[in-house]
Amino acid sequence: MTLSPQVAPEIIEFYTETFDESARLTTTADGGLELVRTQEILRAALPAAPADVLDVGGGPGVHAAWLVADGHRVHLVDPVARHVEQAAATGCTAETGDARELRAETDSYDVVLLLGPLYHLLERADRDRALAEARRVVKPGGLVAAAAIGRYASLFEHTATTFLTREPVREAVADILVTGRHEPGRKGFTAAYFHTAEGLAEEMAAAGLHDVAVHGIEGPAWSLLKAAEQHTGTPLLDSPMFQAALTAARLADPYPDLLAASSHMLATATA
Ligand SMILES: C[S@@+](CC[C@H](N)C(=O)[O-])C[C@H]1O[C@@H](n2cnc3c(N)ncnc32)[C@H](O)[C@@H]1O
Repeated sequence: MTLSPQVAPEIIEFYTETFDESARLTTTADGGLELVRTQEILRAALPAAPADVLDVGGGPGVHAAWLVADGHRVHLVDPVARHVEQAAATGCTAETGDARELRAETDSYDVVLLLGPLYHLLERADRDRALAEARRVVKPGGLVAAAAIGRYASLFEHTATTFLTREPVREAVADILVTGRHEPGRKGFTAAYFHTAEGLAEEMAAAGLHDVAVHGIEGPAWSLLKAAEQHTGTPLLDSPMFQAALTAARLADPYPDLLAASSHMLATATA
């Protein structure tokens, strides 16, 4: 008998009690940059509306909301009950579940999004299982899009916040650089895996997906934007600095060397 996978309790606790994911992409400039760039990369790859979209690890539905507004039919799956309740208010349907064991039928969706699960699954076998499930439920020729946190994101982030000068943070960042892992129980974030661009592309291809393309979501200037916002105390969403960072992300997109500077990457592929 195969046991159903269990999401680490600390991940559920983090998103239920510690962190308000519903505000992450709309209240800070670097969050806004992630939202705008995710929208434009996905819109360029999505089929015409109405498409059937399965948003796995969709959180409180920030992406589901604009996908529904664009005319798509979205079903969201997330292990955090609070997220599922919040998502239901966006116009999508939503249920609790795990990326490694989807309830969806084989070949039933035009698009499967994994914007979260891959970076909360520390073991390669679990990420392979999530990608295999995405491939199973998407129709042949359909789109699979998966987000990852970049291997160097915590180095840039904690420089911008200056937390890197604190020894436990410096040590955690140093470990991520070597292993890609933020181990369960460490403070600051929850259990997470930080991909290299090559690693993300290889995992997508190993799942049998084709035409893999890896995009830098925030591009090379997101941490400058974050530092400026933090240290001036001025909201920079839609400021000239925001527009410059957005322009930089668009210009950087075709250059694989610059993927390492992005906070998140978005891989798109065909089943
Ligand atoms: C940072 S949030 C991203 C939410 C949203 N997709 C976005 O991009 O804004 C990561 C999400 O992944 C979900 N998650 C973590 N482990 C998961 C798993 N094994 N299967 C499905 N979702 C998972 C979390 O509950 C959380 O909602």
